[in-house]
Amino acid sequence: MHKKLFIPGPTEVRQDILDAQATPLIGHRTKAFTELYTGIIDKLKELLETNNFITVLTASGTIFMEGAIRNCVNNDVLCCVNGAFSDRWFKIAQKCDRNSDVITVDWGKAIKPEMVDEKLKSKKYEALTLVQNETSTGVRNPIEDIAKVMKNYPDVLFLVDTVSSLMGDKINIEELGIDICLASSQKAFALPPGLALCIVSDKALEKAKTVKGRGHYCDFVGLKDYFDKKGQTPSTPAITLMYAMDKQLDKIKAEGMGNRFKRHAEMAKYVQDWGKKYFSMFSEPGYESVTVSCMNNTRKISVADLNTELGKRGYAISNGYGKLKELAFRIAHMGDLTLDEIKELINNINEILGI
Ligand SMILES: Cc1ncc(COP(=O)(O)O)c(C=O)c1O
Repeated sequence: MHKKLFIPGPTEVRQDILDAQATPLIGHRTKAFTELYTGIIDKLKELLETNNFITVLTASGTIFMEGAIRNCVNNDVLCCVNGAFSDRWFKIAQKCDRNSDVITVDWGKAIKPEMVDEKLKSKKYEALTLVQNETSTGVRNPIEDIAKVMKNYPDVLFLVDTVSSLMGDKINIEELGIDICLASSQKAFALPPGLALCIVSDKALEKAKTVKGRGHYCDFVGLKDYFDKKGQTPSTPAITLMYAMDKQLDKIKAEGMGNRFKRHAEMAKYVQDWGKKYFSMFSEPGYESVTVSCMNNTRKISVADLNTELGKRGYAISNGYGKLKELAFRIAHMGDLTLDEIKELINNINEILGI
């Protein structure tokens, strides 16, 4: 039996989108592919309300966490760390041999604008990394307030991971001055894994031209040149996934971004009201994510057993991430899930737990 996915990626993909992947292949150096790919980029620009350069690569989102560092930082980067994925970005920066400083807060807490201001005041950095939606803890960092601080440091590039929020949470890329906005297909896009997206500002592109050793696969300057000349990607793309993305972007447009954000906010509220009533939220009050909720396991249930029982009924949720296993659990409400589906899941959890 298929278990409907209420996990924070991969998320549930609707059958018509899965079916789109079965469209017969075309060559990736044909006019037909150029039309498909440039069409996708135009649709993304329209939905995300940006004119910044957008590239879609065949990879998972991590490629752009590394790519952002390799393209935008020669020496010094400041990383905001408040969970597993923001910590991954910090470690990637270290592995790329950049001088990486860090702002660390406890898991479950949010990064605050004044923390960023204090650090940026103390030293000249080339870039700041921020995971806007920490999937491991269900925390939404206050990007709008942090962006206001960033405006006072125009030489510091603003590198933002929206892997688990883009298309579910409103991110005003240009208004917030985001220089790198990266995401993966398998989250709020409600697509299969395998495509990664990056939205790159002109400022980031100019900076990249001055950075040595950008590598090849993820070189923003090379990607932009190739796109401008051919309307394609330099290496062979996952064409079948592109079919799915193309169709899904049409469906997202038909839903309307405003409606999509509203649906996500309603699902988040429902899960978090339930979480507060029967458990407690792991995420700091006021900073709850709109795409994934993380609850403290205050009732000391076996999360693994709960998931086994849910599995028999055709649902899957997530245990706590890493060190939070069994201490917390997560319910994702992102992508194409509906409030009715969330209610159905919660009713089943209540039945299983007898609450
Ligand atoms: C916030 C965040 N950043 C980065 C990643 C890594 O993305 P990917 O697995 O697509 O490489 C994830 C994956 O869950 C994530 O949630």
